[in-house]
Amino acid sequence: MEGGGGAPLEVLREERPCGHGVPPSPEASSVKGSTWGLFFTGVVGGALLAVYAVATPFITPAFRKICLPFVPATAKQTENVVKMLRHRRGPLVDIGSGDGRIVIAAAKEGFTAVGYELNPWLVWYSRYKAWREGVHGSATFYISDLWKVTFSQYSNVVVFGVPQMMPQLEKKLELELEEDARVIACRFPFPHWTPDHIAGDGVDTVWAYDVGTFRGREKRP
Ligand SMILES: C[S@@+](CC[C@H](N)C(=O)[O-])C[C@H]1O[C@@H](n2cnc3c(N)ncnc32)[C@H](O)[C@@H]1O
Repeated sequence: MEGGGGAPLEVLREERPCGHGVPPSPEASSVKGSTWGLFFTGVVGGALLAVYAVATPFITPAFRKICLPFVPATAKQTENVVKMLRHRRGPLVDIGSGDGRIVIAAAKEGFTAVGYELNPWLVWYSRYKAWREGVHGSATFYISDLWKVTFSQYSNVVVFGVPQMMPQLEKKLELELEEDARVIACRFPFPHWTPDHIAGDGVDTVWAYDVGTFRGREKRP
């Protein structure tokens, strides 16, 4: 149908409201594109940075001379530690306190408990957990390297270590601890001391060593 009653094409083009149907200039669309590109790069970069910041403290222990990764104590292991603390008094320390579960369990038993931990995320999480569980007054956490801390003020020392570190830690504690202190080792025993008490079995085994009894009778050459 010729004409069809409609307006000529040229007229329609001119009558369209501003911004509709007028193709954007190549410059305008490239500015829009680059804004989105920047935004996208920022989001991806920020996300990668956040993942890097959170993951690094968990990964770096693998590159240390002694690799001591974050492996939390099992419920049974924690129970065995608490058993070994029965009738004990005085301040307590967990060396490499992880997510704070041992320190918090000890605080609930009435101990003034301290945790030293290298991973800041775990320390912040431990502080939050202690606050949530109502023991923040008696459970304290420090971001510290265990080899740079002196443990002489503690009467109860708990450690869930790895076999490679136990000989060195044994020497350190022997030099630093008072005569009435007790050391509790989780999962891996000390190589030269003879335990005074043992609780649990398998991965949940816990050994308790009283400084007063191991001083002078260790098997070290
Ligand atoms: C096997 S986990 C034990 C965690 C906690 N004690 C528990 O029983 O659930 C050992 C912890 O020691 C921490 N750690 C490793 N090297 C350390 C160091 N040089 N000083 C302090 N903490 C360290 C790790 O980040 C990890 O959380």
